[in-house]
Amino acid sequence: MGVVGLGHFVPPRIVTNQELESTLDTTDEWIRSRTGIHERRMAESDVCASDLAVEASLLALADAGVSPEQLGLIIVGTMTPDTMLPSTACLVQHRLGATNAGAFDLNVACSGFAYSMAVGCQFVRTGAFDYVLVVGADTMTRVMNWKDRGTCVLFGDGAGAVVLGPAGEGQGVLSIHLGADGSGGDSLCVPAGGGRTPGGTPGVPKSEFCLQMHGKEVFKFAVSVIGEAAAAAVSKAGLTPDDVDLFIPHQANVRIIDAAARRLGVPMERVFVNVDRFGNTSCGSIPLALSEAREQGRVKEGDLIVLVGFGGGLSWGAVAMRWGKKEALCPA
Ligand code: UT7
Repeated sequence: MGVVGLGHFVPPRIVTNQELESTLDTTDEWIRSRTGIHERRMAESDVCASDLAVEASLLALADAGVSPEQLGLIIVGTMTPDTMLPSTACLVQHRLGATNAGAFDLNVACSGFAYSMAVGCQFVRTGAFDYVLVVGADTMTRVMNWKDRGTCVLFGDGAGAVVLGPAGEGQGVLSIHLGADGSGGDSLCVPAGGGRTPGGTPGVPKSEFCLQMHGKEVFKFAVSVIGEAAAAAVSKAGLTPDDVDLFIPHQANVRIIDAAARRLGVPMERVFVNVDRFGNTSCGSIPLALSEAREQGRVKEGDLIVLVGFGGGLSWGAVAMRWGKKEALCPA
């Protein structure tokens, strides 16, 4: 099974580093040199993860030539659902008119898309469903502490979606590698808003409902885990990093991507980067990058593509896939 259609959507409003300079003790130079980010997107206050997800999904379905009724399942990877209940996936299911699909959210922070792909693949592989829609969508600007310059400059809003369906022999998803280390949970977290400290608990500052991060710890973790996860997925597929045609890591920081690619031994010409224009869109990041890479002609028939996500949990996930022509992947 493999990707038979893809699409992405970002809100139109661009927030530049210069704009952040006017409200925060930061500089365009600091943000660019430490992260590679030039700008990010911000959703209007009435736009939520489901809205971004629906737009990306409609593009992915049209690209696949698959109707909403043909979907057996919708998985939305998100850490910023519209509401605690119902799930964002159910909102998407209803808006798409996917009347034959089950739907659920999957929250593994920024690894959410890689995990969602891994789960979605199983249903197509076993023949349980012909087509599964996998979406990564986040409105990270909603969980930012706009006084914390160490985090708020890094994130943005966006979504990407893929339709998974039957693939030709030797094509599509070849291998999956998932991992987690809960001992590092405190290094990237949103402490309040769940069952431990519900909204409305007296005396809890607003910042507890926002994303908090030990940047340096996460940086070190990311650099080592990206390379290890990618190498594990590639090796499970019986291949080596030399075989990788396009490496698409989670877009968090260009310095992380650069260091991880060097460790893996994949030159930057074979790495896709768009963190400069979108910042870290969490679950949106990998499908947004894959979709843009395809648009830019960077994804070719027969290419070995490796996707690697990492993030809160701590967690990580990698998917190795052989890109095939849509006609071959999706028999009539
Ligand atoms: O999806 C996964 C999520 N997260 C990540 O992948 C992020 C991983 N971490 C990182 O990308 C980096 O650690 C950061 C970009 C967050 C920070 O870069 P750094 O090189 O590790 O900087 P630092 O945290 O060591 O901070 C260096 C200095 C500090 O000032 P002092 O203590 O040296 O005076 C910070 O207060 O830079 C300061 N600083 C800033 N200065 C200007 C931190 N943020 C900013 C800022 N503008 N926005």
